[in-house]
Amino acid sequence: MDKLVIKGGNRLSGALPISGAKNAALTLIPCALLTEEPLTLRNLPRLADIDGFQHLMGQFGVTVSIQGNRPEDFGRVVTYEATRVTNTVAPYDLVRKMRASILVLGPMLARMGEATVSLPGGCAIGNRPIDLHLEALKAFGAEIELAEGYVRAHAPDGGLPGGNFDFPVVSVGATENALMAAALANGTSRLGNAAREPEIVDLCNLLVAMGAEIEGIGSSDLTIHGVKRLHGATYRVMPDRIEAGSYACAAAITGGEVTLDGAKAGDMAATLHALRNIGVECEEVKNGVHIAANGKLLATNLSTAPYPGLATDMQAQLMALLCRAEGTSVLTETIFENRYMHVPELTRMGARIETSGRTAIVHGVGSMTGAEVMATDLRASMSLVIAGLAADGTTNVNRLYHLDRGYERLEEKLQLVGADIERVGAE
Ligand code: UD1
Repeated sequence: MDKLVIKGGNRLSGALPISGAKNAALTLIPCALLTEEPLTLRNLPRLADIDGFQHLMGQFGVTVSIQGNRPEDFGRVVTYEATRVTNTVAPYDLVRKMRASILVLGPMLARMGEATVSLPGGCAIGNRPIDLHLEALKAFGAEIELAEGYVRAHAPDGGLPGGNFDFPVVSVGATENALMAAALANGTSRLGNAAREPEIVDLCNLLVAMGAEIEGIGSSDLTIHGVKRLHGATYRVMPDRIEAGSYACAAAITGGEVTLDGAKAGDMAATLHALRNIGVECEEVKNGVHIAANGKLLATNLSTAPYPGLATDMQAQLMALLCRAEGTSVLTETIFENRYMHVPELTRMGARIETSGRTAIVHGVGSMTGAEVMATDLRASMSLVIAGLAADGTTNVNRLYHLDRGYERLEEKLQLVGADIERVGAE
């Protein structure tokens, strides 16, 4: 298995390109199931999760054609064509590897009147149920049955009627599934306390480009007037705000100065606010965000929350940064239980962190040392890379498949701004 070898201490400087957003792409691709016409997505990142999702689409009879790059995009152009859906089952071995596979449930049900999707099973960042996905679809008139580890969903004859659903907890994935299903329902649907992450806005914008009628885009109250059919579209995937935030932390921990090309400051306001409190200058520039740190980092208190709050997907990377800040910081993770798996590994590098339930107390330390480390999820792995960039000596980050799920050409991008990082095959 490959690993990343990082020699800490280089100050990052220069410009690095931000890719298309993984989490947006994973909800835009299943929209291809909503129409028999081609859906072309631009700026799709090259990631293991995207390849996995495309493989799943292939199982349903969707043709996937990769059409290279456009000069103004970092990512690829891919066309999905679901002229005929030949199979409505998402099998266990694909869903198990990629939780986002559950996002085919809503569109498949709306288009075909039925869908069978394996239950995703356990997940490293806590017990992640899908009850809200199912409750929302039931509120739209679906019949749902759980049997043999699968969710079987059926629409009444003539299609889903549509309906109203108020989310008791904000859920990004359940909001996405509900939106895709409601777009093709017979009547009008209303979602209350819906997630309003920028990736949800990206999904709404694509659905509208395909002919959907949605009111309240960007708010937590969405009204969807179902339409008889949706048509094809060409759409550019939004920039990845979590990737951009991760590289901002990487630059900051080295006292560096980088421009995140293509990043949208408005989508990452909570992260930029946190970074400013830590003493990092963040400035919106033409087509990107400029980050400048002077080597002095200040402690701060952070709590994750649904958008527009601080993204849980930024918690691990900001924690790595705070390990090197002057003073004591308190972090609270409100979205997922068990999302502190990076703490023991950061501790092995010299960090001083105490956790209790959802709270982590980070006592800043003057220096950290390189170590052999590994993490069990994507953002946790990135926090180890960030810590390694400013640690004394060499850090080896193992289990790279987590990073390959979500960071496109990670080592190439970091090399561009002067990091000493390389991928090597382990003996
Ligand atoms: C998405 C993102 C993930 C991010 C998360 C929160 C994708 C592919 N993944 O995950 O990177 O960390 O949003 O911003 O976009 N919940 C339930 N029942 C449900 C669904 C969720 O109780 O049916 C709970 C979860 O356990 C969690 C909270 O709701 O505590 C939020 O989860 P959710 O927003 O659904 O996360 P995902 O869509 O899985």
